[in-house]
Amino acid sequence: MSAIDVVCVASWNVDLVSRVARPIARGETLSAIHFDISPGGKGSNAAVAAARQGAQVGLIARVGRDDFGRQGLDLWHAEGIDTTHVEEIEGERSGVAQILVYDDGDNSIAVFSGATAGLAARHAHAARAMLASCRVVMASCEVPVTATIEAFRIAHESGALTLLNPAPAQPLSDELLRLVDVLIPNESELHALAGLAPNAPVAIDAAAHTLLARSTKAVLVTLGAAGCSLYRRGETPHHLPGLRVSVVDTIGAGDTFTGTLAAALARGEPLTGAMRWANAAAALSVTGRGALGGMTRREDVGALLR
Ligand code: RIB
Repeated sequence: MSAIDVVCVASWNVDLVSRVARPIARGETLSAIHFDISPGGKGSNAAVAAARQGAQVGLIARVGRDDFGRQGLDLWHAEGIDTTHVEEIEGERSGVAQILVYDDGDNSIAVFSGATAGLAARHAHAARAMLASCRVVMASCEVPVTATIEAFRIAHESGALTLLNPAPAQPLSDELLRLVDVLIPNESELHALAGLAPNAPVAIDAAAHTLLARSTKAVLVTLGAAGCSLYRRGETPHHLPGLRVSVVDTIGAGDTFTGTLAAALARGEPLTGAMRWANAAAALSVTGRGALGGMTRREDVGALLR
């Protein structure tokens, strides 16, 4: 096994993606225009993004010993991702996400976590050597928080950076936030974490500073087509505009952002430089179908940046 740069405490889902013209009302049946079964899970998506950006990636994950779990293992092997710490469990189902994609490329997702729900602190303990020798550890809120806290604690002891994509949004303890170097919410997650209603007319700056005051070192807000903004205590916010692309679907754009940021930080880019790579990779990611369809390699992102 070559040295691991980036570790992901990862969720794995198979995505069942139907394309429909508009959101479906309760009790209504609507014909889908297109259907695909594709790889997903916020953690796995971010791990694949980091691997495609040239990082050596290791996973801490759980899958069921079923067809969907096998698809995850096949994907990770094909992407060169280390699966030493992926547990395959007899009698448990792998995670599944049912996704509706609308005409404008936006989506709604229902996730059944399956085997991912069994991730715990002991899985991070078992991967201590990998966590202690890597450069960046990342997670999302699709994995149980006890596993993330333990992984981040080990990472901090050895000086690795920690990235948290707080999706799906849920309250975060101060214990966890203190262990996060870069928190990467989208606008609605930022509002939820700051204790505001989703569309409350509060400036993003104010909400980001509320989180900074709770000990996170940096808040990097993804703004969809509008780009992203970085907030650090005592510094002027740093904004990058979005890049113009034609949107097919937005599944996994946030995960691509996180994984690309992790890979760039692992190879020594400063946070503002890594943010440029992440912003460009996330823009490209929405030009293809499904979470991985538009997820490009480092050369393609580099070409766009030039
Ligand atoms: O962020 C997109 C992902 O969220 C999908 O791949 C789906 O599996 C859900 O986890």
